[in-house]
Amino acid sequence: MAGMNHPPRVWQHRATHRRAPRRAWFEHHSGDRPTRGRTREQESKVAETRRFTVNPAIIRHLISSQAGTLEKAFGECVMNSIDAGASKVEISLDNDGFVVMDDGCGFKTREEVLACFEVFGFEHTDKSRVFGQFGLGRAQLWNWASTIWSTHQFRLDVDIRARGLDYELADNLDDVPGMTIGGGFYERLPEAERQSCIRGLERMCKYSVIPVFINGRNIQHDPATAKWQYEDENCWIRKSDGWGVDIYNQGILVRSYSSSEIGISGAIVTKRGKVLAVSMSRTDVLTQTCKLWPKIKAAAAKLVDVEVKSGKSRLTDEKRDFLAQATINPDGCDGFMDLKVFTLSNGRHESLSALLYKLIRTDDMILTTAPHGDKVAERAMRDGLAVVLAPRTLSRFDAESVSALVDCLIERLGASSLRENWQFQRINEIRDRVYESLDDSPIKSVLRAEVVPTHEWKPMHRAMISALNLVNGPAAYAVASQTGTENPARALVVGESNAAEAFTDGSTFVAIETEALDKAIHDGLPGMLRLVGIIVHEYLHNDDDSGSHIHDQEFYESFHEVMLDSADSLYARCLEAFRFYCKRVEKINARLAKQADVVAMSAAQA
Ligand SMILES: Nc1ncnc2c1ncn2[C@@H]1O[C@H](COP(=O)(O)OP(=O)(O)O)[C@@H](O)[C@H]1O
Ligand SMILES: [Mg+2]
Repeated sequence: MAGMNHPPRVWQHRATHRRAPRRAWFEHHSGDRPTRGRTREQESKVAETRRFTVNPAIIRHLISSQAGTLEKAFGECVMNSIDAGASKVEISLDNDGFVVMDDGCGFKTREEVLACFEVFGFEHTDKSRVFGQFGLGRAQLWNWASTIWSTHQFRLDVDIRARGLDYELADNLDDVPGMTIGGGFYERLPEAERQSCIRGLERMCKYSVIPVFINGRNIQHDPATAKWQYEDENCWIRKSDGWGVDIYNQGILVRSYSSSEIGISGAIVTKRGKVLAVSMSRTDVLTQTCKLWPKIKAAAAKLVDVEVKSGKSRLTDEKRDFLAQATINPDGCDGFMDLKVFTLSNGRHESLSALLYKLIRTDDMILTTAPHGDKVAERAMRDGLAVVLAPRTLSRFDAESVSALVDCLIERLGASSLRENWQFQRINEIRDRVYESLDDSPIKSVLRAEVVPTHEWKPMHRAMISALNLVNGPAAYAVASQTGTENPARALVVGESNAAEAFTDGSTFVAIETEALDKAIHDGLPGMLRLVGIIVHEYLHNDDDSGSHIHDQEFYESFHEVMLDSADSLYARCLEAFRFYCKRVEKINARLAKQADVVAMSAAQA
């Protein structure tokens, strides 16, 4: 470190030439030493200070590339009216054009027009503007329409399609108070777009600090009198159910964030004078540099905290995402063990504490993952064989695999006070019980699905299957006509499985599990109807479903359709089948009764 006190020689040497240290550093490191072999006089002849300029073409780019939507362009007008001290803005909009009118200060002098209207990106030294920052916003409208700006004795006529960057300035006209912007669209605005523009503008200017009239209707909800769940010196917050949270910079919408980023859904509105740093197009908060942003996020997090602690509000997946990220770290882990942020493949949510407790209690329960709704996973969890996480849980923790998730928990909670938690202390034991999928796990072999050979069928099962054969063809047909695919009937057989009530290979058979058959035998007609439903279900599977499989939305919709569309015919067939079944049962019973008689007789003889 001693060397630090003695700058390198070259530094001292350059300093005597009054060169900026940074340049000296650069020359030293780049090996570029322009002074070598030249006198100072010579050097001053070659070197001069120049300034970058911009070509006017950039103005066209600035105008066109900041154009987002028409409502955003009107939003810029509203912000300008607020900056101009207007007490209200009135916008009228039809398919051919619009008028935006305010009662603000307008342009009073020619100097103002030349300095603030004619120049793009002028210096904003005068701090009176609430929103004005870049000196560009007014131009957004020019992408959509030719405009005439009437203000006091001036009229400014802009038509970039016809005249490019030239505009007409007329002076000494009759006084028009405030500012009135009249526009004619370059392309007629379709009605649907006009409506959507109005809706967008309503949302964008909802909490504007001044009334905003759109075609005569005031769409502003004065934030000072609106109802909020939270208020501090910086912002108001309203919570609602939904995907995300709308961020309003001093009453004007910037954008929405997913509640997985902010923790709540609803709206956050910063107060007047509490300015969010936004991008030039005002469509993003500059979250890295904005000084206010962390305070806003902290306020939202406070609300989440209250919500979680009260246990009142139902957590959404987005909130779980947020909580998982916000609390899994050494300083934010308070209460993490009890947060239900671990979503299982059966859709339930568990806390780490509960999961670890379950896993630790046994020696062989495994930890794995399977898609939402996986049947085998469901069974494995029901039987206490596994804890099966939904894939969303992994992404919630940015983990690529189950073991990465366990590592992440160990690393991030291991550095926190939670490492003292007794369940957490044993988390290492679970590492060896992690499987990345159910199919790779030992559970696969625990789950069986086998067809029972015909000669082993019990008489009652045989009777039920024979009866169901009457419904089998119609069920196959019902599925075929709903799905529009060929669907030949499959053989109905008896099966043994510990995971499903029925299974199929997708083409040749549908096996009904013995327990399901027994249940139907016990329940009678309703039981049989249920089996018909199960058969239809199996026909909708056109691949092997004896292992892990899931039912997606489409599957359920098809099932629903078939059951509704073919209810009458299937029900009629089922009644027929049931009569047939009853006769078979009678026969079986008669045979049994005969046997009983024989037994009774021989007992009497003995
Ligand atoms: N409705 C208005 N009333 C008065 N002055 C306006 C109005 N709209 C725009 N101006 C003036 O034009 C300037 C440029 O507007 P704009 O391009 O939106 O940039 P910025 O708002 O960032 O300054 C404003 O700063 C303001 O001086
Ligand atoms: Mg502006």
